[in-house]
Amino acid sequence: MPSSVMPTSRKGGSRPSPTAVSAVGFCKSYGDKAVLDGIDLRIPAGSVFALLGPNGAGKTTAVKILSTLITADSGELSVGGHDLATDPQSVRAAIGVTGQFSAVDGLITGEENMLLMADLHHLPKAEGRRVTAELLERFDLVDAAKKPASTYSGGMKRRLDIAMTLVGGPRIIFLDEPTTGLDPRSRHTMWGIIRELVAEGVTVFLTTQHLEEADELADRIAVLNNGKIAAEGSADELKRIVPGGHVKLRFTDPGAYRSAASVLGEAVRDDDALALQIPSDGSQRELRSILDWLDAKSVEADGLTVHTPDLDDVFFALTGPADAPDQPKENAR
Ligand SMILES: Nc1ncnc2c1ncn2[C@@H]1O[C@H](COP(=O)(O)OP(=O)(O)OP(=O)(O)O)[C@@H](O)[C@H]1O
Ligand SMILES: [Mg+2]
Repeated sequence: MPSSVMPTSRKGGSRPSPTAVSAVGFCKSYGDKAVLDGIDLRIPAGSVFALLGPNGAGKTTAVKILSTLITADSGELSVGGHDLATDPQSVRAAIGVTGQFSAVDGLITGEENMLLMADLHHLPKAEGRRVTAELLERFDLVDAAKKPASTYSGGMKRRLDIAMTLVGGPRIIFLDEPTTGLDPRSRHTMWGIIRELVAEGVTVFLTTQHLEEADELADRIAVLNNGKIAAEGSADELKRIVPGGHVKLRFTDPGAYRSAASVLGEAVRDDDALALQIPSDGSQRELRSILDWLDAKSVEADGLTVHTPDLDDVFFALTGPADAPDQPKENAR
């Protein structure tokens, strides 16, 4: 199984973007369990990077390390151009973090939560009020602003969480499972918020269990498994590394189907559906050669569909069966 895919720049352009997050060989163990075992990352500024992995893979641990909440055991790490080991203070000034579990204080109002963050960022009072009002408006929380946050729905709390993260105007934000527990509408709202941030040039590092989310948002995706990056690439690159892609030819006339099947000896037959499958990675080059080959054999199908594996296929191929046991924190040692 290929372990990595060569990087490509989705945004075109010949000059590479500056690096927002860089990690070389970083490791973290708890007891004798190597949670992260030599991770390399390079995330260009202004891009979205998604870290995928099964429960317990080490996603939150990676976020905590990169956001200075805990320290790595080894490795060279820099965020926003600042070395994590020697200058964590500058890293903290450049980033915002929305943890997997809400940082919202339910006993005070949404507005008070925001003002508290403004104080923590040492914003002057008037500036704190201005930023708070602007973000409450942007995150559609104006009506709820004066109510205790404990009365907010999950989606509202998550929006408040992210609004609080943005108070200090971070250029790099870490979002640990930003949409877990949200309904489809709230999830789409959150995706819109993330896209807006990226359009403003913010770099987003997110972790997610939703493969569709990584597919929608991320320029690059890394799959974390057993402490290592099992594969990294764009969604399309990752989909091409798992087998299962094929071109399906459908026929309505059984005679045409049989003669096509006899000349396309390599194709997998489905006699009931009158369909033939030809393995393909779905790339333009391969499709062209399949079409040329069909022309050469004078095969004319009534329908032709290209099936490329989705991220679910990739995820299960790389991380093993869905029911792989997770290890509780207390047993991790
Ligand atoms: N403070 C700790 N002490 C001991 N083990 C820990 C600690 N924190 C995390 N672990 C272990 O490290 C591993 C990775 O945990 P982590 O929370 O990073 O996973 P995750 O990928 O974020 O999982 P999830 O998808 O469930 O959020 C797990 O086996 C966990 O039990
Ligand atoms: Mg986690």
